[in-house]
Amino acid sequence: MQVRITVNGVEHVNEIESRQLLVHYLRTTLGLTGTHWGCDTSQCGTCVAWLDEEPVKTCTVLAAMADGHRVRTVEGLADGATLDPVQVGFMAEHGLQCGFCTPGMMMTARHLLDHDPDPDEATIREAISGQICRCTGYENIVRAVRHAAGHPSHPSDAAGADPATDGDSAVVGEPSQEVPA
Ligand code: FES
Ligand code: FES
Repeated sequence: MQVRITVNGVEHVNEIESRQLLVHYLRTTLGLTGTHWGCDTSQCGTCVAWLDEEPVKTCTVLAAMADGHRVRTVEGLADGATLDPVQVGFMAEHGLQCGFCTPGMMMTARHLLDHDPDPDEATIREAISGQICRCTGYENIVRAVRHAAGHPSHPSDAAGADPATDGDSAVVGEPSQEVPA
């Protein structure tokens, strides 16, 4: 079957198998490997991307269901060389170790901050409760989202940062990069 899906503002028309999951469409068909694939059972949340304006676990959505819709992935967070404040927050607060959960966490965080620009800790923990991080114990992730909330639209936050456009495990840049306080 043919699907027409706008991903990060770019329209794609592809022939796919009707059974193909959205996560595999993004990763395999489009090569956007920033959306990670973990449990495949809607447990871990590492595959979260946006379908239209809502975060979804893309391992439980058929690509066919996105036909005619918009998808936003972690590769669509940065504005060119300017990182999203959420990406800056994860860098500044060391909100990751292995980075596997990070793309999904950041997509959920961006959605939260778009709807609640100043969430408290409990609200952040509730927002990411559908996602599992096996590395950080969540403390730094919560701090990263709080950091982003304090920098809602601060282009200079990204000064010196690499856009890291492929969004894979190094999505928020190399650890050695200088990060603003
Ligand atoms: S891979 Fe989708 S929730 Fe784990
Ligand atoms: S940083 Fe490793 S799973 Fe979250």
